[in-house]
Amino acid sequence: MNFQFLLAFSIFLSFANGYKILFLAPMNGKSHFLYISSFVKALIGRGHEVTFLTSNSLRNLNLPNYTEVLVDPPLEMSAMVKQDDFVDMASASIFSCVHLLRDMPRIFNPYTLQNANIQKFIHSTGLHFDLVINEEFYGDSMLMFAHKFKAPIITICPFGVPEYIDRQQGLLTPISFVPHWMLPFSDNMTFYERFLNLILNAYDWAVRRYQFIPTEEEYVQKYFAHLAPLPSIDELHKNVSLVLVNSHRALSPPRPSMPSIISIGGAHIKPAEPLPKEIQTFIDGAKHGVIYFSLGTVLKSSKLPKEKLDAFLGTFKSLKQRVLWKFEDDSIKNVPSNVMIKKWMPQNDILAHPKVILFISHGGLFGTSESLYHGVPLLLIPFFGDQHRNAHRIQTAGYGQFMPFPEVNKDSFSKTINELLSDESYLTKAKETSAIFKDNLVNPMDEAMFWIEHVCRFKGAKHLKSHAINMSWFTYLSLDIILANVVILLAGVLVLYKIICALVSRKKQTTAPGKKQK
Ligand SMILES: *[C@@H]1O[C@H](CO)[C@@H](O)[C@H](O)[C@H]1NC(C)=O
Ligand SMILES: *[C@@H]1O[C@H](CO)[C@@H](O)[C@H](O)[C@H]1NC(C)=O
Ligand SMILES: *[C@@H]1O[C@H](CO)[C@@H](O)[C@H](O)[C@H]1NC(C)=O
Ligand SMILES: *[C@@H]1O[C@H](CO)[C@@H](O)[C@H](O)[C@H]1NC(C)=O
Repeated sequence: MNFQFLLAFSIFLSFANGYKILFLAPMNGKSHFLYISSFVKALIGRGHEVTFLTSNSLRNLNLPNYTEVLVDPPLEMSAMVKQDDFVDMASASIFSCVHLLRDMPRIFNPYTLQNANIQKFIHSTGLHFDLVINEEFYGDSMLMFAHKFKAPIITICPFGVPEYIDRQQGLLTPISFVPHWMLPFSDNMTFYERFLNLILNAYDWAVRRYQFIPTEEEYVQKYFAHLAPLPSIDELHKNVSLVLVNSHRALSPPRPSMPSIISIGGAHIKPAEPLPKEIQTFIDGAKHGVIYFSLGTVLKSSKLPKEKLDAFLGTFKSLKQRVLWKFEDDSIKNVPSNVMIKKWMPQNDILAHPKVILFISHGGLFGTSESLYHGVPLLLIPFFGDQHRNAHRIQTAGYGQFMPFPEVNKDSFSKTINELLSDESYLTKAKETSAIFKDNLVNPMDEAMFWIEHVCRFKGAKHLKSHAINMSWFTYLSLDIILANVVILLAGVLVLYKIICALVSRKKQTTAPGKKQK
């Protein structure tokens, strides 16, 4: 026991001389920022020096050993996605989502790279980093910082495991049972679903290969020109040592992986802290439980159609439960007495409260996983990206239901809520999932820290990388071997055929004269 303690302590001491880490997450999205900053704080907590390239400042926290390169002014979300589109998005096709993820980076990446602070940083001299961490969200041009600082790269993917991560780490995703990351299918796909899966995978691959990556190349050629000769983005991808993915076996179906793809789902979830007085009193006073309602940080309340707003308010009024509603417009009229509206809510702490019995959400992965961590059933109203997938997944798994946004009206909304509240099975299933989610060998954030330090300690951890990343798809799929076998087989058949022909004709020759004699 004592020895183990000493060992643990000496391991801790060996971290005391921390690493210098450059953390790149310039995309301005509130929920992404909250997610990423939990890693920044954890790294600093372990004594590392972090330089954070971001659109949202953490300076007010007075963190030690912390330097910031701020994208100032930040790019507003509305410059990337029209708010009205968001409402349309709820019923848009999956292909338009692929297009959106091609078009958004064409706005935010050049915006970041030409920003004065970032330009200064790109042209800085004398800085050294042991590691570059990049948020894996279509910011591939940022990888060039790893070339500038001659440092290994780790990426953190906030939305699960996209197929290009598998490819980057040397694994061809088996699409017969692994649905594309945007698709809402399970691992038991019908013929039609597998057909769609193949089409979407091929389409996404082509858009990435022929549209997204070439544009990112243009940006690096333009903004990192002084560092020429530059490696290609493909080469930088091959140099990504490790990918931390926001995924957990409790929440997604099994799939094959690589040792350099580490699932750290739930890493951002912290133990609950005390609630603000007003919210605490509101929840404590609820006799029939509390519903927490939040459509995330992207959808602006002013863009919510009036009939939807009325459907929400009308439904809540008819409930005996209390409702906490995170909504940035807290001046709405006719708010029923059982509803509290606030611009900001401590989501994780609310979901951790035992009286909270339902979470109504847009289905972002961060909130969905917080809810399941605390065993709260879900009603999801998905809009875009991975939200449709999350929505279908929770319904299939039995810990919630989803409603397409266009179909939300007072009748359907209250019917679904009442069903979720009256049927015990949703709660049972959510509690069961919560137990699996919490059953980890080590805390997922500690695991993330271990792997980040592992890559620093072993200067890029080359031993995690398979030679598969350097193989052509022809050799990867053993098509050359199959071809060689076919050739050998054909040659064999041909030789056999020739021999038989020769034998037959010889027999004919020897027997033919006999025939004549008859
Ligand atoms: C700051 O970083 C240095 C090493 O880079 C480390 O020794 C020191 O403990 C860190 N300070 C804090 C307060 O974490
Ligand atoms: C790849 O990473 C190593 C460190 O692991 C670094 O020395 C090398 O310069 C990187 N290569 C490129 C092309 O950036
Ligand atoms: C897979 O789905 C089919 C229907 O599409 C169903 O008949 C079958 O039972 C499912 N298999 C499993 C193991 O769930
Ligand atoms: C892949 O090829 C590059 C360039 O030839 C080489 O530097 C790298 O070590 C190879 N990686 C693996 C994992 O085989």
